[in-house]
Amino acid sequence: MSFLLLGTALKKATTFFAISVVVAALVLKWFDDPEPVHLARMTSDTKTLEENFRQQNKSCFILGASGETGKVLLQELLQRNIFSKITLIGRRQLHFEGKVFENLVQEVVDFEKLEDYTAAFQGHDVGYCCLGTTRAKAGAEGFIRVDHDYVLKSAELAKAGGCKQFHLESSRGADKSSNFLYLKVKGQVEADVQVLNFDRFAIYRPGVLLVDREEKRPGEWLARQFFSAVSAVCSTSMSIPIQIVAKAMVANTMLQPEQKVEILENKAINTLGKSDKK
Ligand SMILES: NC(=O)c1ccc[n+]([C@@H]2O[C@H](COP(=O)([O-])OP(=O)(O)OC[C@H]3O[C@@H](n4cnc5c(N)ncnc54)[C@H](OP(=O)(O)O)[C@@H]3O)[C@@H](O)[C@H]2O)c1
Repeated sequence: MSFLLLGTALKKATTFFAISVVVAALVLKWFDDPEPVHLARMTSDTKTLEENFRQQNKSCFILGASGETGKVLLQELLQRNIFSKITLIGRRQLHFEGKVFENLVQEVVDFEKLEDYTAAFQGHDVGYCCLGTTRAKAGAEGFIRVDHDYVLKSAELAKAGGCKQFHLESSRGADKSSNFLYLKVKGQVEADVQVLNFDRFAIYRPGVLLVDREEKRPGEWLARQFFSAVSAVCSTSMSIPIQIVAKAMVANTMLQPEQKVEILENKAINTLGKSDKK
């Protein structure tokens, strides 16, 4: 009898979840980002873009290469081999095995004393920033310190060191006027880096990152399960696989920017990352 009741309850719960996912998918589709326009820039095929970029002999640095996005971004850059030099700037030495990692340069810095590490930021053409923490992990002050202060100071040093392009992984909904600390800090750092006037500043605003995260984040895990199910029904602007973000960041680097400052919302990242067949 109790098995029967349990079975009925499970069936009801599954039906409820399935209906919620479909309803949410339809609602989210309604509020979807506008169609991205900048893809018109992808006139050449990927191989030609890569070859042209490679010939320019550029160097880059990655902040946050030990994190989920940073790791995948690094793999993508190594696989494509479009930079003559890749430097990882982080708070700890990372250990890699394999020939492909042999030429990586690592700079271990103390983010609380970045002024003492100007040399680490000298002479890079392109900078990628995938740095970040959470309020749950670092507290409100710690979160601001990492997601705003460390990012801004690194960008300042990079600019002073000759960096021309800065690619910042921000977040969907970033808005310096937001009442939510997370979105406010993300929006503020976007605005403050913009003032530095890089030749090119690309802001990526992904939704929930779909990744099997090493670190346990229960709230994010729940959101991931929900959005994975929703995106199976229809693609929305609310979530994105992490590989697509990394692919889009690399593909975008090789394209001619239409403006000095570009904001790529989740949908644009998705389209660009997926159109890049590498
Ligand atoms: N999670 C999401 O769904 C989501 C959605 C949209 C946007 N974003 C944003 O996307 C960016 C990348 O996210 P992610 O999930 O790929 O990052 P992640 O896995 O949390 O990695 C964060 C990186 O920042 C470094 N970091 C954290 N605290 C630090 C500190 N106190 N000092 C120095 N370095 C520190 C980490 O270094 P260690 O390895 O040494 O800790 C790591 O390299 C973040 O800015 C995040 O806010 C995330």
